[in-house]
Amino acid sequence: MRLTQTADLWWKSAVVYCLDIETFFDTNGDGVGDIRGLGQRIDHLAELGVTCLWLMPFYPTPDRDDGYDITDFYGVDPRLGTHGDIVELIRLAADRGMRVIADLVVNHTSDQHPWFQSARSSRESPYRDWYVWRDTPPEDGPEGVVFPDQEDSLWQFDEQAGQYYLHRFYKHQPDLNVANPEVREEISRVMGFWLELGMSGFRVDAVPFLLETAGATDASDLPDPHDYLRDLRAMLARRNGQAVLLGEVNLPYPETQKFFGDEDGDELTMCFDFIGMQQLYLSLARSEPGPLIKALRERPKAAEEGQWGTFIRNHDELTLDKLTDDERQEVFKAFGPEEHMQLYGRGLRRRLPPMFGNDQARLRMVYSLLFSMPGTPVLFYGEEIGMGENLAVEGRNAVRTPMQWTEGFNGGFSVADPADLTVPMVDGEFGPDNVNVAAQRRDPDSLMSWIRLLIQEYRACPELSWGDCTVLEHDAPAVFAHKSDFEGCTVVAVHNFSDQPAEFTLAVAGAGPGLRLIDLLKVGEAEVADDGTTRLELEPYGARWLRLLRPGDRYVI
Ligand code: GLC
Ligand code: CA
Repeated sequence: MRLTQTADLWWKSAVVYCLDIETFFDTNGDGVGDIRGLGQRIDHLAELGVTCLWLMPFYPTPDRDDGYDITDFYGVDPRLGTHGDIVELIRLAADRGMRVIADLVVNHTSDQHPWFQSARSSRESPYRDWYVWRDTPPEDGPEGVVFPDQEDSLWQFDEQAGQYYLHRFYKHQPDLNVANPEVREEISRVMGFWLELGMSGFRVDAVPFLLETAGATDASDLPDPHDYLRDLRAMLARRNGQAVLLGEVNLPYPETQKFFGDEDGDELTMCFDFIGMQQLYLSLARSEPGPLIKALRERPKAAEEGQWGTFIRNHDELTLDKLTDDERQEVFKAFGPEEHMQLYGRGLRRRLPPMFGNDQARLRMVYSLLFSMPGTPVLFYGEEIGMGENLAVEGRNAVRTPMQWTEGFNGGFSVADPADLTVPMVDGEFGPDNVNVAAQRRDPDSLMSWIRLLIQEYRACPELSWGDCTVLEHDAPAVFAHKSDFEGCTVVAVHNFSDQPAEFTLAVAGAGPGLRLIDLLKVGEAEVADDGTTRLELEPYGARWLRLLRPGDRYVI
């Protein structure tokens, strides 16, 4: 690998960290986290080894969908700070080798957006055609509605407009009409604006819906919607060669693959691996890695310069929508048996540690997997300390509680009256008294120290991020074993999905004398026989990463 390549294609070995400024750190005591607060706490992320911050929406918003309902794509929510603060933040991040990407939510606007206000006011409004209108809505029923417990149609009649408008999400989020060239141009302007301020790209919200051209009066007139994504990517590349598009595409693999574009990857730089994530939870529920292995085998290769984005938890409900009904019930039974833990009948509004009854070994095994499986790991804030959810909070906000910094008042997040926090803290076993950054920072045995170590080794092993992954066969059904090869170097990783110890033999290399397997997560070594096999033991939920050393290999630390 040429060294320039790692820097140029930085996203292939990045550690992405998603956070909401609003719940990260509050500096002025109003109960709302702010941009300056994130700046003050940025060293926590640098120490952890994060290389890219994904900021959830920080734009002006009536906040009816936690900021995903935007009234000004060029603005900054005044509760959070100013454009000046954003630019300072990007500089602070850059100074620590971190890039910043913004959530780009342009499938829809808030119904309070001035564009929509104008559009609904008259058929003559220059913005009328920026949204999607019908005199009579197509009969759609609840099919395709994203929030089935709240909405029963994609079409909403607007009294003022005298017509129905399309909304994929909540009815207060009218869909923009991307078939309209003016809308497309405006979206490019929005991207150009934030790139100019120093952003390194975007997490693109709801990509398949964004590309949908239901708004066209004659769909046959329209070019392939993927052409539009190609245009956006080309524009991005012209403006900033190192900027990325990380897309939210929750579709079956063959369809998701199309969003990478052609072999050169001329559409999304990265797509989240929603399928692998769901199969991982099924594997965890069954205490055997079969479903995950199947997913990894079926997962199409990302484009040459692209990468999959892997994750354990994101900011939404933990969706299980691509499992069969029976499989979903298995996961519900294991990790969220009570109805109030579930959402929309298809997902969980819990974080991992409570699902596992706070079993630290099991948690560590899962994060070890995240950082050793092929793909770019994306963390959701609080995962590094094992935060839980607050089920008393409505809907998806259960997992969007404030970051827990100390065991003190409001977890050190804010000095405001707890009643003024935008989302209440977690309490009890997973509250700040028991789970916080301060306590874990200097404790070498903490989850946070474990994740810091995983990140350090992941960053030091190009095999994991750039290599070809092979699932290794063996006879311990609860163990997932894989190796990643890159330019003649090999890392082997083994993970035990069960609460029983396991022992097994792996073929890690061709026959030959002098092979060694050096532990990467502890001081140690495993013996390799001359036939290229090794006999390994794993504790319950054990995990081990090993680098293969061939005779004469040098320069490896
Ligand atoms: C995406 C976001 C989600 C939001 C929705 C509408 O799915 O992840 O949080 O509600 O888009 O913008
Ligand atoms: Ca504040």
